[in-house]
Amino acid sequence: MSLSVQLAPKHPQGLLLTNPVMTASGTFGYGTEYSHMFDIQKLGAIVSKGTTLEPRDGNPQPRLAETASGLLNSIGLENIGVNALIKEKAPIWASWHVPVIVNIAGETVDDYKQLASQLEGIAGISGLEINISCPNIKAGSAEFGANPDLAAEVTTVVRKATSLPILVKLTPNTSDIARVAVAVAEAGADAISLINTLKGMAIDLTQRRPLLGNITGGLSGPAIKPVALYMVYEVAGAVEVPVIGCGGITTASDAIEFIMVGASAIQVGTASFANPRAPLDVLEGIEQFMEKEGIKDIADLIGVTRK
Ligand SMILES: Cc1cc2nc3c(=O)[nH]c(=O)nc-3n(C[C@H](O)[C@H](O)[C@H](O)COP(=O)(O)O)c2cc1C
Repeated sequence: MSLSVQLAPKHPQGLLLTNPVMTASGTFGYGTEYSHMFDIQKLGAIVSKGTTLEPRDGNPQPRLAETASGLLNSIGLENIGVNALIKEKAPIWASWHVPVIVNIAGETVDDYKQLASQLEGIAGISGLEINISCPNIKAGSAEFGANPDLAAEVTTVVRKATSLPILVKLTPNTSDIARVAVAVAEAGADAISLINTLKGMAIDLTQRRPLLGNITGGLSGPAIKPVALYMVYEVAGAVEVPVIGCGGITTASDAIEFIMVGASAIQVGTASFANPRAPLDVLEGIEQFMEKEGIKDIADLIGVTRK
């Protein structure tokens, strides 16, 4: 049975995964936090926590609020910063079999460029995932990914600054996600991942104030799965590059739905908080499904609902 997927077919080195199960940024730390819980080397790829140029403390507490079938978070990109990541995390990753993709986040186009330049040539890093769901502080704090031109601009500068394969991670908080996908693919994205969290909020009735210290946050978990699935379907129909599905994936069945609408790989996010083994459970479930259905190659499942 072959589960391997190529996420950067046009890239000179490519980004070959032994299977389509990845972890979603910000929900699996740097991978190291989970390595004692199960054999993380079995996964297709690990995506690191969002990384910025400088270390960040993140947003005021509380930063998490549970909702019906979902989780609201306003972590605010708390992270150790790119220099510490290069010094402390990359050397560990360099000894791993599983590829690690570094998720990068900036407040200006130049931040993304600098991050990509600093991560160039570092052993242990197999690719970059560009988080364009960040507010652009030079343009009224709208998300970069809400605007196709800005999303393309970020992709272009990163493309020029790195020889690594690049994944561009789309935000659902835009009116036409397929247009943004086409723009970033034309600007040089090797693959497109989606979706990031949906904007949301929740109120504490007794305190008469928002539950999150930051007032608003990002919604993730099973609540967003149908939205994510629809968007992956739309994007996979609009671009030629591989698409990576993410949003509420908790079980192998969820993952297979995304693969059937056109995702070449999937990311498990919030599910890891309730069940740290969730990515491995999803992988094993996909293998069992393929065995039961007599499917020899995962490629035969990708986009079947479109054919
Ligand atoms: C606590 C938390 C932190 C996150 N941090 C990041 C991040 O740093 N960068 C990023 O691109 N996405 C981040 N995300 C978004 C997830 O990677 C994922 O796109 C989203 O949660 C939807 O998938 P899920 O429903 O499986 O969690 C975060 C999500 C959560 C819940």
